[in-house]
Amino acid sequence: MSPSKLRAAVIGLGSMGWNHLRIYRTLEGVELVAVADLDPALRDKASQNSNTHVYDDYRRLLEEERVDLVSVVVPTRLHKEVATDAMESGAHVLVEKPIASTIGEGLEMARKAEAASVNLMVGHIERFNPALTELKERLLAGEIGNILQVQARRVGPFQPRVRDVGVVHDLATHDIDIIRLLLEREPTQIYARTRRGLKTEHEDTLLGILSFDHDVIALLDVNWLSPSKVRQLTVFGEHGTFIADYLTQDLHLQHTDSAEIIEVRRREPLEAELSAFVKAVRDGREAPVSANDGIAALRIAELLVESGRVGQPIQTLSS
Ligand SMILES: NC(=O)c1ccc[n+]([C@@H]2O[C@H](COP(=O)([O-])OP(=O)(O)OC[C@H]3O[C@@H](n4cnc5c(N)ncnc54)[C@H](O)[C@@H]3O)[C@@H](O)[C@H]2O)c1
Repeated sequence: MSPSKLRAAVIGLGSMGWNHLRIYRTLEGVELVAVADLDPALRDKASQNSNTHVYDDYRRLLEEERVDLVSVVVPTRLHKEVATDAMESGAHVLVEKPIASTIGEGLEMARKAEAASVNLMVGHIERFNPALTELKERLLAGEIGNILQVQARRVGPFQPRVRDVGVVHDLATHDIDIIRLLLEREPTQIYARTRRGLKTEHEDTLLGILSFDHDVIALLDVNWLSPSKVRQLTVFGEHGTFIADYLTQDLHLQHTDSAEIIEVRRREPLEAELSAFVKAVRDGREAPVSANDGIAALRIAELLVESGRVGQPIQTLSS
């Protein structure tokens, strides 16, 4: 291994962790030295045709490998414990979204990152979707003027592996993060109608309304009831409407009398995300999605869940 390469590890090799493994193995300037999972079949698969060290106990991995950076891709309820151990070992951490299952845990993780002087990046992957980065640039350039309304639609079939959190934490946090990124402020009022108990004991459907200053509204339509997968964001502005499709990475711009397909250079979002994480670690700079971003998205998710539970809108501290 070249001495200048950063030493990386992945903890949790389930459906998402396997993608982290695949990408670290191809990224420049980094070497995937170790992985950990409780499942022997996944450990076997990871050890095939590779020099990567494979562990069942992630704590032993942290002790023995002294890695520079770690992806934490275990179920959400374990994020805090595993990420904290990794940060205590001195590693920079990329924790999958949502940052944790509660705000309290997220805050403790942020404090730990600060105390250990390491990066704690949250895997809000849609920020790295090329359709979204193109959209953000064009909004900043003022192409459709002020944003009036945002609609996010994220529906699809239920994945049985998702069990420890509901659809608001698991899926809506993607859209909440993007809405915060585009509007650059926090909602003043939050209202949700949710249904639970259909597929899991948590929320299975969400219809949510986030209200911001100046009557800007964001609508969230998120569920895992639909047989077909839709991941779409529509931004209505004073002078036009952008429609971004996260799955196809298509971006459309519509005006009253015209429609345009915008050229977007395709790239795998996770590859862009992990590259940005590695670059931040290498340059000794703050990662592009902070623990505070993760906590802010989680806070809004919790208020949506609470509003759904009580059936009333909730004023936030920002109001
Ligand atoms: N960014 C995205 O688009 C995206 C997509 C899917 C999942 N995720 C997030 O990734 C995380 C994992 O989700 P998933 O769908 O891959 O779950 P999964 O259940 O498929 O995988 C989790 C893996 O963690 C392993 N694991 C559990 N406890 C462990 C421990 N103590 N030590 C080592 N390994 C352990 C399990 O054996 C399993 O292989 C979740 O937080 C989820 O929200 C993000």
